Amino acid sequence: MKAIIPAAGLGTRFLPSTKCTPKEMLPVLDKPVIQYVVEEALEPAEVDEAIIVTSPGKPELLSYFQPDRSLERLLRERGKSAYADAVAAAGDMPVDFRYQYEPRGLGHAIRSAADAAAGESFLVLLGDYVVPARDICTKMLEVSRAHAGASVIAVAPCAPEDVSRYGVIAGERVGSLCGSESAADEEPGAVWRVSGLVEKPSAEEAPSNLYIVGRYLLSPLVMDLLADQEPGKGGEVQLTDAMARSLEREAMYAVVIDPLEGFDTGTPSGWMATNALMAAADPRFAADFWAAIDERGGLKRG
Ligand code: G1P
Repeated sequence: MKAIIPAAGLGTRFLPSTKCTPKEMLPVLDKPVIQYVVEEALEPAEVDEAIIVTSPGKPELLSYFQPDRSLERLLRERGKSAYADAVAAAGDMPVDFRYQYEPRGLGHAIRSAADAAAGESFLVLLGDYVVPARDICTKMLEVSRAHAGASVIAVAPCAPEDVSRYGVIAGERVGSLCGSESAADEEPGAVWRVSGLVEKPSAEEAPSNLYIVGRYLLSPLVMDLLADQEPGKGGEVQLTDAMARSLEREAMYAVVIDPLEGFDTGTPSGWMATNALMAAADPRFAADFWAAIDERGGLKRG
């Protein structure tokens, strides 16, 4: 199975930093954001390759996932084997690339990788969300297996005023992940059958407050439907719209996850908070991180 990771955006919110550096290359602790997403994508045993959909103006992404044996050798000669291992790990992951030549929306980006996933179900992982536990795709695969290989998406509850930022589902609770039988309808582990999907509805239009978090397991039908998907919200080809059309012919399920399981890297402040939260929790960085903060009298609201 292939996991498709769209990474073709301009990174406008991070300008001017993203003038020369793709936003996917911004670091979280010691690795670029995209590496977390690739590692998460490759976590389930079913996935043999991550396909990054990028634009021709971002060669840094291709370089990053190439091996660099001379740098590895130099680091080993200097006794820096942990850094050499980290460089090797980045260059040796099964990653391939496709180009999205025009910025025509998420659905168009996914369709740009159609040949890679031909005739097979595929995962989609959006890159603005880092999930250290790497377990959402495994949960979606479990639900799909229990429902004849159906499409499954990860959803989470949000405040009514936030629904207009996301794709939102309509549906009904039909079950639970193994071990989550006592979860309430909107608690992690609840499984829903999806009856409708709306991209970025107003609070009044929203059929629920369960939003698509950016992890999808989709059937080949969705990829086929993307081929002639008309532009939707914002004039862009929306993945959500092709998924909604697939409901006329196929079942789709949603599994509720805890939104705090992942960390936002899609806005400068989200990315900053993610770095701070993850540094404070990582034994490799926590002591020095807190020492640097404490030296200045701690963190204060300014
Ligand atoms: C995309 C999807 C949306 C989803 C969101 C999650 O929107 O179109 O359905 O809820 O990602 O982050 P975007 O954030 O690209 O506007």
